[in-house]
Amino acid sequence: MSLHKEKADILIIGTGLAAVTTALHIPSDLSVILVSKSELTETNSDLAQGGIASSYLEETSEAHKADTMFASNMTSCIERVDILTAEGRQTIEEMERFGVRFDRDGDGYDLGREGAHQTHRIFHAGGDETGRHVMRQLRRSLPDNVKVLEHVLVHDLVVWQGRVVGAMAFQREERIHIEAGAVVLATGGIGGLVDWTSNVRTVTGDGLVLANRCGAELTHLQRIQFHPTLLATEEPRLVTEALRGAGATLIDADGRHVMAHHLLGSLAPRDEVARVLTERNGPIYLDTTNVTRLHDRFPKLALTCDELGIDLRQIPVRPGLHFHMGGIEVDDMGRTGVDGLYAVGEVADTGVHGANRLASNSLLECWVFGKRVAQAIQLNDAPFTTSESLAYDISFEMFQELRSQIGNWLTISPNLEEMKCFLQNTQSLTLTKHVTRQLSEQTLLLDAARLLAQSILGMERHDEHDLSTRTTTTVFE
Ligand code: SIN
Repeated sequence: MSLHKEKADILIIGTGLAAVTTALHIPSDLSVILVSKSELTETNSDLAQGGIASSYLEETSEAHKADTMFASNMTSCIERVDILTAEGRQTIEEMERFGVRFDRDGDGYDLGREGAHQTHRIFHAGGDETGRHVMRQLRRSLPDNVKVLEHVLVHDLVVWQGRVVGAMAFQREERIHIEAGAVVLATGGIGGLVDWTSNVRTVTGDGLVLANRCGAELTHLQRIQFHPTLLATEEPRLVTEALRGAGATLIDADGRHVMAHHLLGSLAPRDEVARVLTERNGPIYLDTTNVTRLHDRFPKLALTCDELGIDLRQIPVRPGLHFHMGGIEVDDMGRTGVDGLYAVGEVADTGVHGANRLASNSLLECWVFGKRVAQAIQLNDAPFTTSESLAYDISFEMFQELRSQIGNWLTISPNLEEMKCFLQNTQSLTLTKHVTRQLSEQTLLLDAARLLAQSILGMERHDEHDLSTRTTTTVFE
């Protein structure tokens, strides 16, 4: 098979907000290649509904910082949270300079509120279509030094004398070698590993596997967030927490308020609400009768409910996999421990989210840390080098069978027996040098799931307590 060649100073893998922010802040005399595994706009950032948390109107960022620490049950790294929250106002101003228009209410911003936020501080655009609006505007701003390649599956990084100097990939079915002075992983999380997710299906932990294969450290892989409210229909989709911020409550089939026991009610931290809903038998609904201007503020949700014939005043919901807090260990500039390799966005563990991310902090993280990565990048110089790849030699049917097993254990209360079974079933698969796009894709996905399972089981042995990070309900002082 012939090998097509591409070359750039910097290769960024991913096209969501972390990738685009990094690309926007790289000096214009450096060439950048941005690759998408599918289409440019198929990212979790594009799906974002709630918005961007920012202490814009507060005197200091201390209250936002306190809420971030509280939501994570004090497991976030306070120094990194400081970096994140201190740049809230600047982030909104900078995005506006790129032409992003946040929703306004009269003279001021129309701010939303979500779980564990003590105040309204969430900037949104187009009501509940924040991601689409923000991403469309920022992508329009990408300069000429940035080239975008779609349908590119990166299956291995090229390492030369300990430095990352490019990647091996397939563009559709054609093999390509991308030579680069530095590589940024912005591949997103792991939601696509299971069916019950708010994520796009292509986000399946590739970055974790690529980083692990070249020796970068992975941390806190067991820290996985489940969102309390996905639409309980055949095809799950997110129902934004901002709806609860606007007055919706979680009720059971008898109309009883499910979170009445909690000081914050339906706006309790996400992990607590998701756990309560999971432990209950029977259907759960979002009662929106108290939400004013529902169609104006949540146009996407209104349209979806209309299309599916769902009563907008009583929306059936259930929890689903949403966000990965763990990931590739990075310093405060997004450097991994491997020369030439950087990570940003959901794939990176910056420490800001701890064991439970505060709502709407992830887009803020992408912006703040994307800029820092762009600042930190140092280019490697290396001779033209490629690397040989291996893939699991399995049929598509066998892959489908193994994939379906992942959903049995990657749940809000991890099923350890199922997990061990999955590890056993995948540990002696044979390898082939005759890699194809499909085999590489299957291999990355299974390896990502194996990394998660090994991490959860290892952690279970060493620190049983951390599996369920919040055993009691935390209340504000
Ligand atoms: C939501 O809109 O409920 C999700 C926001 C987030 O995950 O930060």
